[in-house]
Amino acid sequence: MIDIERLSATQAQPLLAALCDVLQGCVADGASVGFIDASDRAAIERFWQDKIYSLASGDNQLLVAYQQGVIVATVMVGFSAMPNGRHRAEISKLLVHPRARRQGIARRLMQQAEQLAAEQGKTLLVLDTRSGDVATDLYLSMDWQIAGSIPMYAESTEGVLDATTVMFKLLR
Ligand SMILES: CC(C)(COP(=O)(O)OP(=O)(O)OC[C@H]1O[C@@H](n2cnc3c(N)ncnc32)[C@H](O)[C@@H]1OP(=O)(O)O)[C@@H](O)C(=O)NCCC(=O)NCCS
Repeated sequence: MIDIERLSATQAQPLLAALCDVLQGCVADGASVGFIDASDRAAIERFWQDKIYSLASGDNQLLVAYQQGVIVATVMVGFSAMPNGRHRAEISKLLVHPRARRQGIARRLMQQAEQLAAEQGKTLLVLDTRSGDVATDLYLSMDWQIAGSIPMYAESTEGVLDATTVMFKLLR
């Protein structure tokens, strides 16, 4: 059974290690999610610590999926702080630990992330994802559209410069 919860900064702080485990597991598996070296736990901890601080402002929101009481997946919804972008939200850090994949967890997290953004009046969602990754199929199946791709955008865990695909979804 999968439970999805939105975490405040206070709720997320004691779960820092669990959040790092998910991100570290994905990087070790070769995911293109900002990090190259999965063994650099300190960098991964700094990343999540910054994100946890940012939850307090409300500009970022964090959803996590629990399986048997353990966090196995995350997604973040980031709201633009600029006055001309108040209608917009960015989806990031959709991460499912390799041992929890292909059970529909990412799809459920995305549904809830979209619902959360819609409830807060957002009408445009954006994200980017490594070109060719299976995540693109998930987004396309949820009515996201491809805006375009940028070559040589991010270095992979294998040292290759991969393209990224920029996607968007209009919420009605
Ligand atoms: C992409 C990712 C989030 C998918 O998580 P998941 O929980 O396994 O995905 P789901 O089970 O919800 O599958 C949703 C859809 O994604 C696609 N998909 C997911 N894994 C796939 C795979 N191994 N092969 C082909 N399609 C796949 C399918 O379209 C699937 O729909 P279907 O089950 O109806 O065929 C996960 O593989 C992951 O964390 N990858 C590394 C991090 C990453 O790349 N995140 C995206 C950053 S933008």
